Amino acid sequence: MRIDIISVAPDLLKSPFNHSIIKRAQKKGLVEIMVHDLRKYGLGNYKQIDDTQFGGGAGMVMMIEPISNCIKKLQSERSYDEIIYMTPDAKTLNQSIANTLSLKENILILTGHYKGVDQRIRDKYITKEISIGDYVLTGGELAAAVLVDAVVRLIPGVIGDEQSALTDSFQDNLLSPPVYTRPAEFEGMKVPAILLSGNFPKIDDWRSEQAYKRTEEIRPDLLDE
Ligand code: ADE
Repeated sequence: MRIDIISVAPDLLKSPFNHSIIKRAQKKGLVEIMVHDLRKYGLGNYKQIDDTQFGGGAGMVMMIEPISNCIKKLQSERSYDEIIYMTPDAKTLNQSIANTLSLKENILILTGHYKGVDQRIRDKYITKEISIGDYVLTGGELAAAVLVDAVVRLIPGVIGDEQSALTDSFQDNLLSPPVYTRPAEFEGMKVPAILLSGNFPKIDDWRSEQAYKRTEEIRPDLLDE
């Protein structure tokens, strides 16, 4: 998979992909992640990328030309399965969206700043808009990092133990059951006996029950979906 990200703060995206699983995925050639500095496409001597809003109102808007020029340049090099805009005024990211995106070949992600991008960019180029939650960040970079992390770990071969991605929270619209490791007892707190029983069908049943119970308590909305 190839992921291109357009950003006015490319430095923010240097570190998140340079660790553990995502770094290894890039080394193995399973994913290539490229960050493009929008400022390079800015207009005039000052490399302008934003301007005041038509109709008045506080906050700057990211201009159409620099973004359009940047997208056109990238599109001349490859065609994209999705062009995604990270923005709080969109559908919220979930595991199902991450699953779908992990099967794509080429993804382009546009990150916004200030009041966001000129609506005409969204109308013309964007095929999917994604929010990572009902709160506003200072820019879309951290949101893009969240999206890329969630997607890349699902690419076949990225996580060694395939089973581990399949039993994640949300994979069946259920939260994960509790997990334990050694020691079996710590300061009087014991690991549930069933997990030490060696009875794997029973352990599976227990985990399913716990996952359901947790979901019912913490995220009952997931059970309605
Ligand atoms: N940009 C600013 N806030 C955001 C959010 N919650 N999700 C995606 N992009 C954003």
